[in-house]
Amino acid sequence: MNLLSSRMDGVRGEGAFAVLVEARKLEAQGRSIIHMEIGEPDFPTASHIVEAGKEALDSGWTKYGPTQGDPELREAIAEVVCKQRDIKIDESQVVVTPGGKPILFFPILSLLEPGDEALYPNPGFPIYESMINYSGAKAIPIPLVESRGFSLDVNVIRDKLSDKTKLLILNSPQNPTGGVVPEEDIRAIAEMVLERNMMVLADEVYSRIYFEEKPFSITSIDGMLEKTILLDGFSKTFSMTGWRMGYGVMPKWLLDAVCLMMVNCNSHTSSFSQRAGIAALRGPQNCVQDMVAEFAQRRDLIVDGLNNIPGFSCTKPGGAFYAFPNTTQTGIPSDELAHRLLHEAGVACLTGTSFGDYGEGYLRFSYATSRTEIQEALTRIDKIMSGL
Ligand SMILES: Cc1ncc(COP(=O)(O)O)c(C=O)c1O
Repeated sequence: MNLLSSRMDGVRGEGAFAVLVEARKLEAQGRSIIHMEIGEPDFPTASHIVEAGKEALDSGWTKYGPTQGDPELREAIAEVVCKQRDIKIDESQVVVTPGGKPILFFPILSLLEPGDEALYPNPGFPIYESMINYSGAKAIPIPLVESRGFSLDVNVIRDKLSDKTKLLILNSPQNPTGGVVPEEDIRAIAEMVLERNMMVLADEVYSRIYFEEKPFSITSIDGMLEKTILLDGFSKTFSMTGWRMGYGVMPKWLLDAVCLMMVNCNSHTSSFSQRAGIAALRGPQNCVQDMVAEFAQRRDLIVDGLNNIPGFSCTKPGGAFYAFPNTTQTGIPSDELAHRLLHEAGVACLTGTSFGDYGEGYLRFSYATSRTEIQEALTRIDKIMSGL
């Protein structure tokens, strides 16, 4: 029996979780697997944040709380958002959510309906397309351009905009490419958005993980705060994936709708996790700085290593913790190549196509694993590819 609604037809999962399950199965059979599939920092959550979480549990932060989020945490978020992006907002514009994902789910469902169109980066975080599909709106992919550091082509966006376009999703630094969209492109996009009746969803969940130029936020442009849903969170920046802590900043009319969705779905974000979030934002930041410094070293190691493997070429990503090599010269389709690397080399990575059709010809390696493991993975891949 299958009684699912037709709305479920376009809903997709995440390749990372599927490959993780497959890789774990191989490990259970005694195989040695290097995990480069999952997008999760390998560092423990910093001890001052963990302590704050424990203290919160001990002192009774174990009850229901406000839907929009702990007011003290929202204040801390507003301070950080203002400082980081050089903008002015206050805590009334912030909603705290269980991870950043609800800032895709709830605003997309609140905004989009059949007849609308939404533009999204492809290859991109798979949840974008999935959620647009679920809303009933038309999902229109904007291909990323490798030769431009995987930025979006502003002219393609201009061509695809129509009277039906209600939403454009931006993600910088980007998953899966690690690309950072240059300020000039963001300014050109903002110009188009400002003259239309539409919103931008700026997914800045990797905003603090960058290696050269600080990523530019579209919210910093005059007039754009009113037209932007900003998504950020704690999972990546503070290595807090399991705490489920994210947040959004958006205009009041949409924030009220998102809070309504929260009431209908999860009531609010975990009370004690939110207390730990205050410690993360207001406490020492060297955990973030040290993590980013280590990612920078790993990035150089993996990019150089991948560029020495026959058939692979990899541009240097400016942020996040992903390498996205072009593998077209191997002549092997991406799905098959990822499958072979897992089964023959014991290296779990993702096929570019798990991020959309324009991901064909690429693989994604998450370098949120030790340099020793990265080196071992490179040796194993090289052995397989050199033997072909
Ligand atoms: C681009 C992007 N946005 C949002 C998220 C959501 O992360 P979380 O829900 O853990 O905050 C992720 C996680 O992988 C991501 O890569």
